[in-house]
Amino acid sequence: MRLDKFLCDVLGVTRKEATMLLKSGEIEVDGAVLKKGAVHVTEDNTVVWGDRELTLSGPRYIMLHKPQGVVCTHIDDYNDTAFVLLDEANTKDLHFAGRLDADTTGLVLITDDGQWSHRVTSPKHKCEKTYRVWLADPVQADYVQQFASGIELRNERDNTLPAKLDIIDDTEVLLTIHEGKYHQVKRMFAALGNKVVRLHRERVGKIVLDEDLEPGDYRFLTEEEVNSVWS
Ligand code: URA
Repeated sequence: MRLDKFLCDVLGVTRKEATMLLKSGEIEVDGAVLKKGAVHVTEDNTVVWGDRELTLSGPRYIMLHKPQGVVCTHIDDYNDTAFVLLDEANTKDLHFAGRLDADTTGLVLITDDGQWSHRVTSPKHKCEKTYRVWLADPVQADYVQQFASGIELRNERDNTLPAKLDIIDDTEVLLTIHEGKYHQVKRMFAALGNKVVRLHRERVGKIVLDEDLEPGDYRFLTEEEVNSVWS
């Protein structure tokens, strides 16, 4: 990642402050004073400020606005993985707290804190996820009731847990579910004879996708957002 970005993340300073720090000649990389923020550093470089060695430590919590066409895995033979969008050190330590399909857009949470992601994804904790769904065919009168009572999915023993459907218009709805079965939203609508043509996740628990993030952008979660999963 860029040296100025590294300083922002480690020291919690703005990009402007990081640039000033660099200009003042106080930052050394591998024993040499570096003044340019555009230089790339990795975990193999030793970055020092005065007598302090700087490392990115502590758990990281990131919200990504996932665009279409990237996958939520570390390695994929055919698609870019969402990790290529992160200008962060040690992305191998990070994992997804719940995945989206390649063609689904919206909120993806990424962390290196296993307990935290377990809290978000474990069915036991029933963390709500809200999806905006665009359908091929118009919503039927009985959909709200069907989602509320649970839907029988192919190859699943149990019906889905009660879900909340808010109808936006004929072919657009907001669906809130508490589970994360494989392709769950698409399979729920397929079970009713309809087809999801576009899917976008807006919310996970109390964490809402930041409207300022364009597809492909990300930011670190606030302390309040991080802590919200425990409440
Ligand atoms: N349900 C789906 O069908 N796909 C997703 O990406 C997320 C939920």
